[in-house]
Parts: sequence; structure tokens; C-alpha cells
Amino acid sequence: MRIETLCVHAGHGPDSATGAVSPPLYLSTTYERDTDGEFRRGFVYARDANPTRAMLERALAELEGGEAALAWSSGQAATNAVFQSLRPGDHVVVPVFAYYGTPQLVREVYEPWGLQASYVDMRTLDAVRNAVRDNTRLIWVESPSNPLLTLTDIAGVVEIARDVGARVAVDNTWATPLGQRPLELGADIVMHSTTKYLSGHSDVLSGALVVRERDDDLFPRLRLLQKEGGAIAAPFDAWLVARGIRTLPWRMRAHTANAMAVALFLQSHPAVEAVHYPGLVTHPQHEIARRQMHLYGGMASVQVRGGRSEALATAARLRVFTRATSLGAVESLIEHRASIEGSATRAPENLLRMSIGLEHHEDLIDDLQQALGG
Ligand SMILES: Cc1ncc(COP(=O)(O)O)c(C=O)c1O
Repeated sequence: MRIETLCVHAGHGPDSATGAVSPPLYLSTTYERDTDGEFRRGFVYARDANPTRAMLERALAELEGGEAALAWSSGQAATNAVFQSLRPGDHVVVPVFAYYGTPQLVREVYEPWGLQASYVDMRTLDAVRNAVRDNTRLIWVESPSNPLLTLTDIAGVVEIARDVGARVAVDNTWATPLGQRPLELGADIVMHSTTKYLSGHSDVLSGALVVRERDDDLFPRLRLLQKEGGAIAAPFDAWLVARGIRTLPWRMRAHTANAMAVALFLQSHPAVEAVHYPGLVTHPQHEIARRQMHLYGGMASVQVRGGRSEALATAARLRVFTRATSLGAVESLIEHRASIEGSATRAPENLLRMSIGLEHHEDLIDDLQQALGG
């Protein structure tokens, strides 16, 4: 089936007990045993499994083309489980251009715990190749990256990982399965902050992992960490993410069209120093974007002339955009990234990150025009 059809039907059909077309929300934490002591209906206790979460997990696996998926209480809970699945003494390669929480988690939690880590600019494969060691077990990729929209050649990283017997995990939050299909490019794990596009309405905090193979030793370990670590997606959050998925293809197309229009406008504005958007032919890695992305997505960043103060002043003058962190929802958001990320940030002080929403693109452009002046 094509992705639009998959998204509408993934993970559920009419409820067998009642005929309900929209899937039920199961809040029960505990489930009745059969008279002989068995649990033939498959559910025992909600941390282990819950029918609403199971419905979402089936949908996530179908959507990314994986064999199994796990839904978590946040994107970071999902990321955390991947690193936690490794053993002290293992080596990981982590991107320097990424959601700042990912390298921070490895540096602050997993290095003291015994993981070895290399932090790499993954815009070139040579840098990745030079970083891997005999004990490298995981290469983490984020493409396009937060907030500079740098790209990494996923298939190229997979080839390097295979040579040393490492797995590849891709944070696919910004691209979504509509924009990029990491498992088809050979990656082993896809991670999502489903807080963003998959739910799509700024009202859920949740995360996901999808694995290419259910039967190797990775999935049972992640499943164990989900159950015993306990950072599961709550039933209502799972239900909201599953609902968001049904409209994902159409939202992503509109986000992309709007972002492209905004990026083209900004590129020609005299108050703008640089625009970062993978769909622009002027993006230094546009060739990778064309090769591995099907949609360029709704995220773009702009560097304005005049430094930090002018960036903050520009954001303050906007009326349609909301000044807020996060991304991937119906409303356009803008954020001064350096001041959120703190002293280790790689975001330039004059950079504003934009999550381009589903408003009319001309209203967004008019708003940017009045804020930038000229
Ligand atoms: C690319 C990316 N990965 C991971 C995360 C973390 O997700 P969450 O906030 O759901 O824990 C974010 C959040 O902004 C993100 O943008």
C-alpha cells in the first residue's frame, strides 16, 4: 500500500468488540487473567503492554518499513534507550550537528557510565570513517540536523558501520517517513520525537524507536529497557500520535511547500545573511538531499544581519509566528536557538530556527517581510 493509505489505516481497523471506527483509548493499567491463570488476550499490566500503545507501535513499524516499534514517553526516552542498550567499553560515534540533547546525554550520562564516544562533523563520510574503531557499536545520525540543517549521507554511513560491525540509528524526527526512509537505506534503528510532526499539534510529548529486524538481539534488549525502565508512552499520548499519523502525508507536503516558499523569500531579502534549507539549490549539500530525501520538510533556519540583538528583535516583531521552542505542528514557531542550547551551542548567535506551519505561505512571508523591514 502507498504511504497515504498506510497512514490512514496503520495499526488499527474497526474495533472488533464494538465496530468503533476510531480506535478505543484503553486506560486500564491491569488485565483479567483467564480462569486457568493464563493471559490469552495478551495483556497483563500496562507498563508491559497496553492495547492503545500496541496499536501505535504497529502503525509506527508499518510507517517506517520496520519489523517492530516501541513507543516512549519522549523522544529523549527513546534516544536514551538506544545508548542504554550498549555496554560499558563500547564505542559510539555521535554527530556534533544534532539536537543538542543527544550529544549532551552521551557526554553527561553515558561517558561517565563507561561508553566511549567520538563527536563528529558528519557532513563528510571521511570524518565518520576516521572516527570508527574496532569496538564501535553504534553510529548515531541526525539528518537534516537541528538547527543548522546539515545533511549526512545515510547509506554511506551504513557502509562504514557494516565494515566494523556497528549499528546505525537515525533520528528521523525532522524528515519524517515521508521525507526520508532510513531503514530502506540500510539503517538498523529509526528514532522519532513523535512530539513533533507525527503527532503534529503541539499537544503530546512522546518518542518512538523502529527497528529493521525483530529477531536480532537488539529488539529484545530495547523492549526490556522499555518495560523495566518504564519510560513508556502513556495511552492518551499514544492515541494522539496515532491520530496525528493519519494526516501526516498531507501535512508534510504542505509544510514542505510553505517552507520552500519562505526559504526562497528569505534568500533574496537584504536583511538576511544566510538561509539553511535542504530544498534550496544553494544548500551546500543539496545533492545529498536530492538523493536521499523525498520531501525537504518544514524546518528552516535563517541568519539575520546585525547579530544576536537583531535576531531577537526580528523575532519580537513577528505576529503570525509564535516565539517558542519545539516544532512540527500546525502553527509556525520561531526560536533563537543559541540562547536555548546554552554555552556548548553550535548555533550562530544571529540564527533563528523556524518550524514552518500550515498557515497560508503568503501570510508567513508578509509577517517576515514586516519583521525584517525593507
Ligand atoms: C531532532 C530531535 N531529536 C530529538 C528531540 C527530543 O525529543 P523530545 O523533546 O520529544 O524528548 C528533539 C526535540 O526538539 C529533536 O528536534
